[in-house]
Amino acid sequence: MRTSYLVNLGNVNDIPLGQGACYIVKGAEIAVFRARDGKVSAIENRCPHRQGPLSEGVVGNGKVVCPLHGHKFDLASGEGTEKGECVRTFEVREQYGEIVLDFPVGGLTPEGRKD
Ligand code: FES
Repeated sequence: MRTSYLVNLGNVNDIPLGQGACYIVKGAEIAVFRARDGKVSAIENRCPHRQGPLSEGVVGNGKVVCPLHGHKFDLASGEGTEKGECVRTFEVREQYGEIVLDFPVGGLTPEGRKD
């Protein structure tokens, strides 16, 4: 039984190095980041604090800083620096210059959780 879809999000150069962008995938907002070394990572876009757009946050040292109140989230684990806060992470990679996201069938619903 299929548990995820591979979704092509387009050219990796659409995201400048050191920045993020928001993509809508099956109705869910996904923040994709491209580190200065070219590594891509993906997390859910909405901050669990007050729904700030994480794709617009500052990226550095493997973390993103929420643009609204400055809470930080690890791009690999989704773990936040504030107690009890974390965001979903997604498998993503660059393949032949395209961003390929591994998106769970259940999306951001509890059924879509792999953990
Ligand atoms: S909305 Fe993100 S820190 Fe407040």
